[in-house]
Amino acid sequence: MAKLKSKWVCQSCGYETAGYLGKCPECGGWGTFTEEVQSSLKPQNISPQGILNDVQPSLISDIHIGEEVRVSTNISEFDRILGGGLVQGSIVLIAGDPGIGKSTILLQTSGELAKKGQKILYVTAEESAGQLKLRANRLGVNENNLYIYPQTNLESIREQIDKIQPDTVVVDSIQAIYSQTITSSSGSVSQIRECCNILMQIAKTKNITMLIIGHVTKDGNIAGPKVLEHMVDTVISFEGDKYKSYRILRSMKNRFGNTAEVGIFEMSANGLVEVLNPNQLFLNERSQEAIPGSAIIVTNEGTRPLLVEIQALVGATPYPSPRRVSNGIDYSRLLQILAVLEKRVGLNLSKQDVYVNVMGGIEVDEPSADLGIALAIATCARDVVVDPQTVIIGEIGLSGEIHPVNNLEKRLNEASVSGFKKAIIPYANRDVQHEKIKTVPVKRLMDAISACISPQ
Ligand code: TYD
Ligand code: MG
Repeated sequence: MAKLKSKWVCQSCGYETAGYLGKCPECGGWGTFTEEVQSSLKPQNISPQGILNDVQPSLISDIHIGEEVRVSTNISEFDRILGGGLVQGSIVLIAGDPGIGKSTILLQTSGELAKKGQKILYVTAEESAGQLKLRANRLGVNENNLYIYPQTNLESIREQIDKIQPDTVVVDSIQAIYSQTITSSSGSVSQIRECCNILMQIAKTKNITMLIIGHVTKDGNIAGPKVLEHMVDTVISFEGDKYKSYRILRSMKNRFGNTAEVGIFEMSANGLVEVLNPNQLFLNERSQEAIPGSAIIVTNEGTRPLLVEIQALVGATPYPSPRRVSNGIDYSRLLQILAVLEKRVGLNLSKQDVYVNVMGGIEVDEPSADLGIALAIATCARDVVVDPQTVIIGEIGLSGEIHPVNNLEKRLNEASVSGFKKAIIPYANRDVQHEKIKTVPVKRLMDAISACISPQ
């Protein structure tokens, strides 16, 4: 009997070696290698290159592009993150934690597309057709040209695509399907890479839109090789607090539109409902009286500014080394802000625990949130309150200077719609004025602290 060869593959970057390694030389990850058994049979040549081999180079001036066909999903928040609708023949990867609503949004989208006359093949590789039907009943999806196909074998899926000739295929999920040409188990790096390759080839040669669901690992990355994200046209991540009802869809990569665009939904008893005024949602949990350690920032998510509350808690530590906990902001960013507060403002935090939380389960990675985070910490440490009518916008440099931000006018407009009266802004943005909001330009972190403290 032919001996089966094995190789070790890094599950986070796809690096391959003949034997086990503790640390990946490519991505530096620890304990990321798993063994994959290969068949000694040569796999058939089914790479996209194999099919596209007869394509010849052509002069750029001779290339004629067909009209880009965009199909609206009838879900305006979803259309927005896609850049105005689904581009026919594109591949969209939707990633998120289990139970966040990936299958729900794609079943709703399938229903809407089917209503428009598109033929949809929904491949359910994790749930049975019955389970899917139950969800469809809740969502009120019962269209004629929506085919449900419980299948994990990619070759069978391919056969059905040839037979049904759908306009859109949903694959739920890429980790659960496998190709017979690869012997390693489904969900492994080589299976995911191969399956995605084949799906991409089908999408591009047959002009079929592919909506692919992907799982994320415990640390929040999309499970499988990084190449998966490179291969697809659009990557959308599903965020949000699973225990609360709202969900945030964010486009991380989009070959056909803006990235960093967000769409906000609420999970209701009948599926995901668009939230058209998200600021109310994020701010309505705020307590009416001002409390120390709370600051409102205006982050710019794609083309839409969002008002978000940052809360900080600072207190004497019972531990030998103080704790720093960040929820919704990057941990090293928090450490940097704390270092600036200690060195440039003279706030002694070396014996204090610091907890920072972005309310609403949203992730804020824009640097313009720095100043709001710093003020939440500083006001909590000094037990004073930030004026509740004030929003805070600015990036902090290492010497405590405040850097300018983009799109300030839009941010101020959004703040004024939500009833705010004052904004602390970077000095370099001082030319930006707003008729309903009093702007206070600040050069340094120290000035911002004195400017925000209530009453003023
Ligand atoms: P689901 O789409 O199955 O999540 P995923 O595919 O990302 O794992 O959604 C799961 C959760 O959503 C589940 O806990 C039930 C809830 N839900 C509702 O609250 N209302 C609904 O109408 C539906 C379909 C699901
Ligand atoms: Mg699911």
